[in-house]
Amino acid sequence: AQSIRLAVIPGDYIGPEVTEEALKVLSAVCPAYDIKVDPTHYDLGAQRYLATGEVLPDTVLAELREHDAILLGAVGGRPGDPNLPAGILERGLLLRLRFELDHYVNLRPSRSFPGVPTPLASDAPIDFVVVREGTEGLYVGNGGVVRKGTPQELATEVSVNTAFGVERVVRDAFVRAQGRRGRLTLVHKTNVLVHAGGVWSRIVAEVAPEFPDVTVDYLHVDAATIFLVTEPERFDVIVTDNLFGDIITDLAAAVTGGIGLAASGNVNPDRTAPSMFEPVHGSAPSIAGQGKADPTAAILSAALLLDHVGEQAAARRVEDAVTTDIAARVDAPARTTSQIGDDIAERVSN
Ligand code: NAD
Ligand code: IPM
Ligand code: MN
Repeated sequence: AQSIRLAVIPGDYIGPEVTEEALKVLSAVCPAYDIKVDPTHYDLGAQRYLATGEVLPDTVLAELREHDAILLGAVGGRPGDPNLPAGILERGLLLRLRFELDHYVNLRPSRSFPGVPTPLASDAPIDFVVVREGTEGLYVGNGGVVRKGTPQELATEVSVNTAFGVERVVRDAFVRAQGRRGRLTLVHKTNVLVHAGGVWSRIVAEVAPEFPDVTVDYLHVDAATIFLVTEPERFDVIVTDNLFGDIITDLAAAVTGGIGLAASGNVNPDRTAPSMFEPVHGSAPSIAGQGKADPTAAILSAALLLDHVGEQAAARRVEDAVTTDIAARVDAPARTTSQIGDDIAERVSN
């Protein structure tokens, strides 16, 4: 029995729509496991920014730290919206949270769901997890522009890879592989990115002897995209840097049943700050307000949250309900966002 102090950041466009369904399912599953969820909503996102210019005030960040976990919908505007330049919310809110709360393991599981159509030739079961580094790489904003707007304009983005940052995420991935099928694949581009790639390869090789039961494998990221489509069942744990992890997890979502099903956890394994759970997808402005968003990714992210706070039984219950719900979608009429949430909530409560 426990009470979870949960910070909820619904965010923009479909963010609030899918978050509401995730909360609905949490409310439905928790009583049976004697879990109490105590949610506090935070109105961070486009509306607050447009109304006040605030993205993530320090006082709010300090409050967020006092929670056991954070559930986030999605943030960000319509690409090209002049009122909301790209990056303001993505960098100032989402990435700032990941960095400040030290979410160095961006956990993105991919599995196939019986009955879900995929674009793949084979229907071999897929079950892998991408351990995406979450605090370094090209995401740190280490760069700049000079001579802006001139023909001599020069823009740089420099990827930051520290031995400390790489080693901690690599170790986490080894431990996960050990607890799964014992297979770890490093994905990088060491044939071109020799400096960063060198650190990643060396650290994987150095840590590997401590995990003799884990088989280590390496793929260049371009080749990895081939195998993610042609042979995804070969993967168990993939460890990779921030940007490669971003890209291959959208691909992984697409091949295993769609972006509407892909969940993620921004995990701080040392528990020095709350971890944050969110769908892999974004705010999908073009489908917002129409009941078209699939809340499954948000609901599965809530299951990852339950897992993280030690409520494995409740987490399995949600995942099982989702699996059953997804199987029942085949040949059934389409449902709205809230109907899917209602149905999954019903499945977890009886
Ligand atoms: P997106 O993930 O929002 O949308 C990509 C495609 O997937 C669109 O066709 C969309 O309609 C569809 N889609 C996404 N989620 C869906 C769902 N739950 N059900 C059904 N279909 C779904 O990516 P984008 O269009 O590149 O980005 C839109 C905005 O979201 C941008 O401002 C971007 O910066 C932001 N973004 C935020 C996050 C986040 O908050 N974690 C993640 C990705 C993108
Ligand atoms: C994701 C998103 C974010 C990322 C953006 C919105 C900063 O695409 O969570 O996958 O690139 O990490
Ligand atoms: Mn992404």
